[in-house]
Amino acid sequence: MRADYAQVFQNVDAVAKYTDVVYAPESYSTHVNARQRAFLRGLVHESFKGRRPVQHDFACGTGRAIRLLHGLVRECHGYDTSEAMLDSAREAGVYATLHTVAENGPVPAPATVDGPALVTMFRFLLNVPPEVRDRGIAFAAKALPDPDAGLLVIENHGNRQSLRHLAARRHAGKAWFSELAHTEVVEHLDAHGFDLVDARAFALSPDGAYRRGWSRPAARVVDDVTARVPGLWRWGTDVLYVARRR
Ligand SMILES: C[S@@+](CC[C@H](N)C(=O)[O-])C[C@H]1O[C@@H](n2cnc3c(N)ncnc32)[C@H](O)[C@@H]1O
Repeated sequence: MRADYAQVFQNVDAVAKYTDVVYAPESYSTHVNARQRAFLRGLVHESFKGRRPVQHDFACGTGRAIRLLHGLVRECHGYDTSEAMLDSAREAGVYATLHTVAENGPVPAPATVDGPALVTMFRFLLNVPPEVRDRGIAFAAKALPDPDAGLLVIENHGNRQSLRHLAARRHAGKAWFSELAHTEVVEHLDAHGFDLVDARAFALSPDGAYRRGWSRPAARVVDDVTARVPGLWRWGTDVLYVARRR
């Protein structure tokens, strides 16, 4: 995890790497993103029963999680520390009001708490220190003051209990190889009065399986199935957790 995480995304090169390399066509992340889209849209249909929620996307970056829900939410607000990432979201034409927030200090206030809400926090918790994770979840708690207020969906893109862990020794000490255990996620949720209500994995394969022509087709088949099987989330390399206030 990185203490300077907010600084990493402050320049256009970091944005370009994110959009052109991490989310290049056929990459691991692009396939995970497509599977998450189907799950998230189904979740909104089932959980909000026709009452379109307001989406609050914390650490929205280029607006990826906002785009996953285009057309399904009543209103959307994205929050991020990086003007460069927010500019990229604007260029991509996201339907959202984008807010620049400070990287530390008082917990940012959600733009509105009117009506049901869906708070999304994707690819954020893994690489930041525990106090920054807590600040993000404290933001979600402000947007979701009670059990009927809606849902929080968090992504862990480096689950410790997955095949990805086999690479941990090789990457030991590298700033860009963090791992996050389910228990840590649940502890952070619990500390802010959230209960885990569902979880889903969007890949069992590590991203390296998508870099090689011979392993990519098999990885895609396995991971497409994984995203449809609820019980596999404990072993997923990439996991979404759905939580509700107690
Ligand atoms: C890996 S990107 C994820 C972007 C987007 N959520 C997604 O999944 O594509 C992490 C984002 O967190 C933002 N960020 C870093 N520190 C932050 C903080 N303390 N508060 C809010 N956002 C932060 C960065 O600027 C960056 O846009």
